[in-house]
Amino acid sequence: MAQVVGIEIEDGVAVIVADNPPVNALSADMRNELMWAIETAEADDDVTAIVVHCAGRTFFAGADIREFDKPPAPPMLPDLIDRIEASSKPVIAALHGTALGGGFEVALGCHFRVAVASAKMGLPEVKLGLLPGAGGTQRLPRLIGPQKAADMIVSGDPIPAGKALELGIVDEIVDEGSGGDLRAAAVAFAKKAVVEELPIRRISQIDDGIAAARSDMAAFDEHAAGLLARKKGLDAPRACIDSVKNAILLPFAEGLVKEREFFMELKNGVQSAAQRHLFFAERAAQRVDDMPKDVKPGKVDKVAVIGAGTMGGGIAMAFANAGIAATLIDVKADALERGLATIRKNYERTAARSGKGEDWVNERVARITGADSLQAVSDADLIVEAVFEDMALKKQIFGDLDRLSKPGAVLATNTSTLDVDEIAAATGRPESVVGMHFFSPANVMRLVEVVRGAKTGFEALSTAIAVSKQIGKVPVTVGVCHGFVGNRMLYARTRQVERAMLEGGSPQAIDKAMTDFGFAMGPLAVSDLAGIDVGWRARKQVGSTIAPVADALAEMGRFGQKTGRGFYLYSEGSRRGEPDPDLNALIAGIAAEKGVTRREVPETEIVERLIFAMVNEGARILEEGIAARSSDIDVIWVFGYGWPVQRGGPMFHADQVGAGVVAGRLSELAEACGDETLQPAPLLAKLAADGGTFGKL
Ligand code: 3HC
Repeated sequence: MAQVVGIEIEDGVAVIVADNPPVNALSADMRNELMWAIETAEADDDVTAIVVHCAGRTFFAGADIREFDKPPAPPMLPDLIDRIEASSKPVIAALHGTALGGGFEVALGCHFRVAVASAKMGLPEVKLGLLPGAGGTQRLPRLIGPQKAADMIVSGDPIPAGKALELGIVDEIVDEGSGGDLRAAAVAFAKKAVVEELPIRRISQIDDGIAAARSDMAAFDEHAAGLLARKKGLDAPRACIDSVKNAILLPFAEGLVKEREFFMELKNGVQSAAQRHLFFAERAAQRVDDMPKDVKPGKVDKVAVIGAGTMGGGIAMAFANAGIAATLIDVKADALERGLATIRKNYERTAARSGKGEDWVNERVARITGADSLQAVSDADLIVEAVFEDMALKKQIFGDLDRLSKPGAVLATNTSTLDVDEIAAATGRPESVVGMHFFSPANVMRLVEVVRGAKTGFEALSTAIAVSKQIGKVPVTVGVCHGFVGNRMLYARTRQVERAMLEGGSPQAIDKAMTDFGFAMGPLAVSDLAGIDVGWRARKQVGSTIAPVADALAEMGRFGQKTGRGFYLYSEGSRRGEPDPDLNALIAGIAAEKGVTRREVPETEIVERLIFAMVNEGARILEEGIAARSSDIDVIWVFGYGWPVQRGGPMFHADQVGAGVVAGRLSELAEACGDETLQPAPLLAKLAADGGTFGKL
């Protein structure tokens, strides 16, 4: 016994020390040994109080998520926590790092909580498609009131120790900055509890927080409705609310049983499987399998961003937000001025919305310096080129960067489609060139496709990955091809969106099919928002004819919201599109020209056409090695394109449907409309034949 948990006695206080790197997850071994430790400490007559403390970087960061796919092994976490709470000797939790999920629930089962100032705590289960399943939904409302508890449980966002103290979750904060020591402080608290005979506080027996709510359920329901309004399509937030409501209405023990039922139901459902898949996929995506262990990313203190347009400005903001100084360069003085003014305006808007002051704005703006000459790259550790998509221009810039930037600087291009190898060849140091494809708005969207060229060196690659993480992004390494992973699959979908329109699907029907599937907006509403001209110009450059309807609208100057007309009509100042009664005739005309017979297109067919075409392209991308793993594709679509998290990403979704079904349906669609791109990719066909899954790739 005692492999991950030990007991150390200090002045009559039993300090239970858990040590299960990296995050002290509450695995079956951990639960077993904690049960042993609490029982041993309680039975020891020399022990007067107990402290639960974790070694390493954090207090328990939750249940062991990897165990969720295995049969449950006793002792179950709620039973362990009940046992801790039932202790006749005071139990004090000593919190540091991130006390999350089941870890926070353990802390709530203890009678008192002492935390370091830097600790964070919360119940992020909802982000895994779950609800807290070890008493969190029953104890937290009793401690801080159901509305505040619902806020924490439905958002899943952790709170800092200071806030927890304010809310009455934490009893004492230890300031490590002034030399405070958590373990010593927790032991001191334990001794005080004994000497002063502090009443043992079992949260399950507190009624104060919920009594008031019980007499005004309407107020709770209204609050809950507000929280759920932006959680459409997700099962977990609803269950969180129902369970918190049980805390108000039912005795503790009954509420706990119901919470467990909700938990098991969600855990066994596809939404949680999808969100757990994404949790691990996000982490796996940051690994480059052939990266030698001794490669260390370079330090990035100074960044230069070339091009003061929307992308360049957003990228500069993304660095400034993380405290990294950025020089925004544009050789056109007026464009630079406009870019800097937009950045200030964006910060002012954020400040106004979130109640931040002028100082906050000034501090961020001060991190971004404007320059109108490329010479300004000379001291940058990382240079991100974000000018418009023109190969000749990019090559010229990279030639200049080769002359002007310091040795070892990472030269990144934000191209969304162009050949990174060709751009790298314009320099004498292709090993320093890498793609960093940000997504608009770059200060908000979390995905960065890190494009690894044929000659990109490991140093440059690891620096691009590390700095992306440093600024809070999710980097995914991809290979070179037109559109990389995300846009290449987007084009495959666009082709089918257009085909569906030509065959008879209205823009409203197509958008509805995708919002019913779980996207926040349909593809055509998104086109109107982003500007139909953007894709039209890009397609013209490469002579693409995949989008005849969008191109026809753009030719007519119907660019979407900004011109008041696109796939929808927008009245002055409105962002709500109304159907255009004339559009059908325009589309019918194009269909006639192309010899496409129009018919009623059912919603299921729209979904299959759009989604399976993406899966098919994803399969080709995997075959070609452009993405290293199928889960990388899922991460790209969730973090860059708003793929609904509860569906886990296109490749995860394909596995749910089954490769055989996807391939079969694609063959039928290809046959029916003569679109060869819909023929199942060899990899998909193979999985279909073998009964295989993308999840294994
Ligand atoms: N279970 C299993 N493995 C976990 C884990 C968990 N709860 N939390 C983290 N890990 C693993 C990660 O997969 C990663 O493994 P890898 O090195 O093999 O990729 C490793 O621990 C380190 O994690 P991160 O790379 O994420 O490290 P960070 O320092 O960036 O973040 C963290 C640490 C904030 C704790 C973050 O890992 C995190 O948010 N973890 C999940 C927390 C969570 O969701 N807890 C609730 C779990 S559900 C639950 O408790 C149910 C209960 O109510 C019954």
